[in-house]
This record gives sequence, C-alpha cells and structure tokens, in this order.
Amino acid sequence: MVSIDTYNACVDFPIFDAKSRSLKKAMLSSAGGVIGKNANNTVVVEALKDINLHLREGDRVGLVGHNGAGKSTLLRLLSGIYEPTRGTSHVRGRVAPVFDLGVGMDPEVSGYDNIIIRGLFLGQTIKQMKAKMDDIAEFTELGDYLAMPLRTYSTGMRVRLALGVVTSIEPEILLLDEGIGAVDAAFMNKARIRLQDMVKRSGILVFASHSNDFLAQLCNTALWVDHGQIRQAGLVDEVVEAYEGPGAGEYVRELLKRFETQDADPRST
Ligand SMILES: Nc1ncnc2c1ncn2[C@@H]1O[C@H](COP(=O)(O)OP(=O)(O)OP(=O)(O)O)[C@@H](O)[C@H]1O
Ligand SMILES: [Mg+2]
Repeated sequence: MVSIDTYNACVDFPIFDAKSRSLKKAMLSSAGGVIGKNANNTVVVEALKDINLHLREGDRVGLVGHNGAGKSTLLRLLSGIYEPTRGTSHVRGRVAPVFDLGVGMDPEVSGYDNIIIRGLFLGQTIKQMKAKMDDIAEFTELGDYLAMPLRTYSTGMRVRLALGVVTSIEPEILLLDEGIGAVDAAFMNKARIRLQDMVKRSGILVFASHSNDFLAQLCNTALWVDHGQIRQAGLVDEVVEAYEGPGAGEYVRELLKRFETQDADPRST
C-alpha cells in the first residue's frame, strides 16, 4: 500500500547572508514564506509550517497558492530531497518526482541517452528503457533532435522529453510541479491523454499548479497553501473558489462536468 503521512512537518531555510537589520518585523509579504529568526538569531525562511497530510491510494491532490507559498518545497519534502526541520514525514511507495527537469539529465549527451538516464533516475532498468525507447521517441516528436545533445534543446523540448519518459513508467507516487506547462498547446493536448492515463495508473498524485485547467483534469481534491501553511483542503472546485473567487470555482466545475461526460463517452474526446 502506498501512503503519505506528515505530522506537523516544518521546513526552514536558514539564510546566513540576509541583511537582518533591514527586515521589517511582522510584515507578511504577498509572495514567499514567513521570514523570521531561529533560536541562534539566524534569519530563516519558514517555507512550511505544521503540515499534516494523510494521503492514500487514489488520492489526486492539487496544490494551489501564491508564489513562494511552499508548494514546490512540499513536493521536495515528500520526495525526500528535504528532511523536515521539525515534525515528521513518512512516505511509503516508489516516488517519481517530475519537478526538477534538470535532475537526471545530462546536457552533453543525446536525447536518446537522456531518456535512458532519466529512466534510471526514476528506478527503471536500462533494458526496460530500451524497450520503451521507440514509443517515447515517437511521443516526443523530437525527430532527429533526439540524436543531438540536450543542450541544443529549448525548455519546452526538454519538457517533452521528460514527459515522454515519466508517462512511460508506472509510478506509485507521482509528484508533479508545474514546469510541464512549458510545452506548446498542440503538444499539451496530446500529452494530456497520456498524463491522465498515467495518473490513473499511479497510486497517489500530488500536483502543484497555477493552471485551473490542469488541476481539473488531473486532480480530485486540492490544498490551498498559504505562507507555508495549509489554509484549506477540499474538492478541487471548492479550494480554487476559496483561493481565486467564484468565477474560477465555476470554471473548474464546468470543466469537471465536461470531463465526466467525456469519460462516459470516449468518442467525444
Ligand atoms: N533553497 C532555498 N533557500 C532559501 N529559501 C528557499 C529555498 N527554496 C524555497 N525557498 C523559500 O521558501 C518559500 C517557498 O518556496 P516554494 O518554491 O516552495 O514556493 P512555491 O509555492 O512553489 O511558489 P511558486 O508558485 O512561485 O512556484 C519561499 O519563501 C522561498 O523564498
Ligand atoms: Mg513552485
């Protein structure tokens, strides 16, 4: 069984070179986590504070919130890249993090080689990756570029490669950051179907996004992260409505309805 449980998990970043005298006390900025001082009088960014999360198989959670709210930090905590400064975080299951497009990629080797490297990074074997190569290559539509070193790729082209690899595996826990938004509209339409498919196969999804379209497509619940804390948890449309207002909530509800009918009648996709 896959599961994610955090108990009062906090992540602080100590900043040793902050100009601490020019910090204004008790000011909450509209972007970023709370800036404070720890017991040693060092300036710290409190990126996450008292996060209590209990996720089980089938949970597809969207993370919404302002820039610097702590969404990416939460994904890194769940992936094990960060340890909680206080509190605990227990994750059971194979984690596939898709937030750092640079991780598991080598700019100097070809797209083909990077497909294998990234697969290894996500826990696959070379043999498994070779077997999937044609399918992934076709999906990315990168053609001859796949024989070129990765440094010659644009951001969106890199995302295509990363998406091709990640949608070809069977992740137990999938952590997605919104970098996937860098691909063009035509490719996104194609990737959406593959992503939705993969999300159905994965046990738990946690997805940080500023796009209500994506949230509606991939998630069934959402968390509003605000200055490092969970401000609200609930259904996607409710949380988006609380965060962005009634118009956005209504928009998400309409999308959800549309996807429901599409699911019921596959010919309409
Ligand atoms: N490596 C780091 N060192 C210091 N502070 C950091 C670090 N990474 C993140 N932070 C701080 O932690 C807070 C949360 O950042 P995070 O990247 O998690 O936000 P986010 O919700 O993903 O924002 P966005 O919507 O802009 O992607 C911010 O205040 C940020 O300044
Ligand atoms: Mg982020």
